Amino acid sequence: MRIFTKLSAPLCLLFVFLCLKTAFSSSIHASSFSTTHLCSHEEALALLQFKTSFSIDYTVPYPPLCGYPPNYSKIESWKEGIDCCSWDGVSCDNVTGHVIALDLSCSFLYGTFPSNSTLFFLRNLQSLNLALNDFRLSKIPPEISQFTRLKHLDVSFSRFSGQVPGEIAHLPKLVSLNLSCNSFDLILETTTLRYLVQNLSEVRELVLSGVNMTSVNPRFFMNLSSSLTTLDLLYTLLRGNFPNSIFRFPNLKKFYLSGSFGERNLTIDLPSSNWSSPLQQLYLGYMDCGRRLPESIGDLKSLQSLSLFYCNLEGSIPTSIGNLSELTFLDLSNNQFSGPILASIGNLRQLTGLDLSSSNFSGQIPPSLANLTQLTSLDLSYNQFSSPIPASIGSLRQLTILYLYSSNLSGQIPPSLANLTQLTSLDLYNNQFSGPIPASIGNLGQLTSLHLYSNNLSGQIPPSLANLTQLTSLDLYNNQFSGPIPASIVFWSHSSFHR
Ligand SMILES: *[C@@H]1O[C@H](CO)[C@@H](O)[C@H](O)[C@H]1NC(C)=O
Ligand SMILES: *[C@@H]1O[C@H](CO)[C@@H](O)[C@H](O)[C@H]1NC(C)=O
Ligand SMILES: *[C@@H]1O[C@H](CO)[C@@H](O)[C@H](O)[C@H]1NC(C)=O
Ligand SMILES: *[C@@H]1O[C@H](CO)[C@@H](O)[C@H](O)[C@H]1NC(C)=O
Ligand SMILES: *[C@@H]1O[C@H](CO)[C@@H](O)[C@H](O)[C@H]1NC(C)=O
Ligand SMILES: *[C@@H]1O[C@H](CO)[C@@H](O)[C@H](O)[C@H]1NC(C)=O
Ligand SMILES: *[C@@H]1O[C@H](CO)[C@@H](O)[C@H](O)[C@H]1NC(C)=O
Ligand SMILES: *[C@@H]1O[C@H](CO)[C@@H](O)[C@H](O)[C@H]1NC(C)=O
Ligand SMILES: *[C@@H]1O[C@H](CO)[C@@H](O)[C@H](O)[C@H]1NC(C)=O
Ligand SMILES: *[C@@H]1O[C@H](CO)[C@@H](O)[C@H](O)[C@H]1NC(C)=O
Ligand SMILES: *[C@@H]1O[C@H](CO)[C@@H](O)[C@H](O)[C@H]1NC(C)=O
Ligand SMILES: *[C@@H]1O[C@H](CO)[C@@H](O)[C@H](O)[C@H]1NC(C)=O
Repeated sequence: MRIFTKLSAPLCLLFVFLCLKTAFSSSIHASSFSTTHLCSHEEALALLQFKTSFSIDYTVPYPPLCGYPPNYSKIESWKEGIDCCSWDGVSCDNVTGHVIALDLSCSFLYGTFPSNSTLFFLRNLQSLNLALNDFRLSKIPPEISQFTRLKHLDVSFSRFSGQVPGEIAHLPKLVSLNLSCNSFDLILETTTLRYLVQNLSEVRELVLSGVNMTSVNPRFFMNLSSSLTTLDLLYTLLRGNFPNSIFRFPNLKKFYLSGSFGERNLTIDLPSSNWSSPLQQLYLGYMDCGRRLPESIGDLKSLQSLSLFYCNLEGSIPTSIGNLSELTFLDLSNNQFSGPILASIGNLRQLTGLDLSSSNFSGQIPPSLANLTQLTSLDLSYNQFSSPIPASIGSLRQLTILYLYSSNLSGQIPPSLANLTQLTSLDLYNNQFSGPIPASIGNLGQLTSLHLYSNNLSGQIPPSLANLTQLTSLDLYNNQFSGPIPASIVFWSHSSFHR
């Protein structure tokens, strides 16, 4: 059960541009640019010409990644007679006047990207951001290699397609490259990747999530520049064994890699010693991570976020995990871990999200969990605990989501749950809870969903449930309640109410 929003990756797949073309025309008149302009006449003309290649379509729903909708395209401000260095999205070198950076992200651009675009006249560009537009499945033009000074290139979320041109490897100064989220229509071939790895000796951020790399042999990633700080390879259709030397990259802070759901054709061996990355975020999913989570994971002292889900891990979680004192997010769900959840998890006091669902944990839920007072989300569902919920759970006062369903829990529902007044979802179904629903549950005024079905709960349904005015889903089905359904509940009961 995935309950947390995992970084931004799934957005790639959910993100769909709806493209409705609106007429837009602009004409360039022969004009004279004032000599006081920093921007050169030629570069201004090139930009204006570029502007005419596209229409601006405000009817396209504004992408969530663009923040609050300005409902305004940057190129609207591009007008002759005004110094191009002052146009939105344009930055010039303040001495030479050359355009050195162009940020056209989120600009509602709609149209095919021409390979003879006048944009390629801007030979001094160091940064080009075309993200979050709709280039209607254009190819990335090979002419991109004319930007020999380019350090930053972002063409993510912009509906480019076809093969990434080999010329991308002719940009030796690239520091960041983002080709992500063009929805598998963009294909990176193994040869191109090999040259890219060889030639981009200064690259620090490489973001390729959602790029179709079916044909790529993962071993080529081994030779990436040691300057690398970010490597994002989510949903790339990679297969084979990913070199674990990646964990020795001296500057790597973020590493995201996933295989394909339902297969285990991508593997990586977590090293048993000598991790040398200053990793802060590690995200591995839908792959085979080599059975054991090594004790050495505790060496990654800078880790803030650790997700190893659907990784085919088994055995116990090493005690050393308690050393990761910077951790704010831990997801080890959908593995085959067994044995009790270690008490040392209570050391991770910065945690705001913990997901250990869908494994084979048994024994008790450790009372030390009560130390994780920053938790807003806790999912321990689909395990084999055979124990009660510790009353100390009442200290997790920031919790908004608590999933403990289908986990063989028993005993009474602790009245201390009433302390969790921020809860919006409480799912305890499919366990062996007995005794009454504590009347104090009426304190949980933020609850929108309460699922207690398939337990052995008995006694009367407390009238205080009527306090839960935000509830949109209530399910008490398959228990042993007695007495009438309180009138206060019947009064507002919803179609989703099941006794
Ligand atoms: C944006 O502005 C256009 C007109 O320029 C208008 O038709 C459209 O409804 C606006 N969209 C939003 C989301 O405000
Ligand atoms: C150019 O801009 C940079 C940074 O914006 C600034 O530090 C520098 O002083 C400026 N140079 C001139 C000549 O204005
Ligand atoms: C680009 O090529 C198209 C035809 O392929 C032509 O119509 C257009 O004028 C050319 N644009 C420029 C700026 O050369
Ligand atoms: C590496 O980049 C240089 C230009 O900087 C280019 O001449 C060379 O062909 C590139 N190598 C490959 C394999 O693309
Ligand atoms: C693309 O990746 C770069 C480098 O990590 C990042 O700075 C940028 O925000 C990303 N673009 C989008 C639209 O997320
Ligand atoms: C990925 O690219 C290959 C060609 O390299 C193609 O056969 C395959 O259909 C593509 N996959 C998807 C999901 O588009
Ligand atoms: C990595 O680079 C080394 C030295 O340039 C080379 O010998 C080796 O074949 C490369 N490995 C891969 C997988 O590209
Ligand atoms: C991927 O794994 C499945 C089994 O999970 C296997 O049947 C299939 O042949 C594998 N495909 C490749 C390309 O390795
Ligand atoms: C780990 O590092 C130590 C010291 O640098 C070295 O002796 C050892 O061989 C390394 N182990 C592995 C598995 O690389
Ligand atoms: C939990 O906190 C208490 C007191 O703050 C401390 O004594 C105990 O050792 C902690 N337990 C764990 C597992 O961190
Ligand atoms: C619940 O709150 C009450 C009073 O606010 C407090 O006395 C009690 O210790 C709390 N229980 C837990 C388990 O935190
Ligand atoms: C119902 O809610 C009110 C405040 O909204 C609170 O004072 C009262 O204690 C609640 N009743 C129960 C039984 O929780």
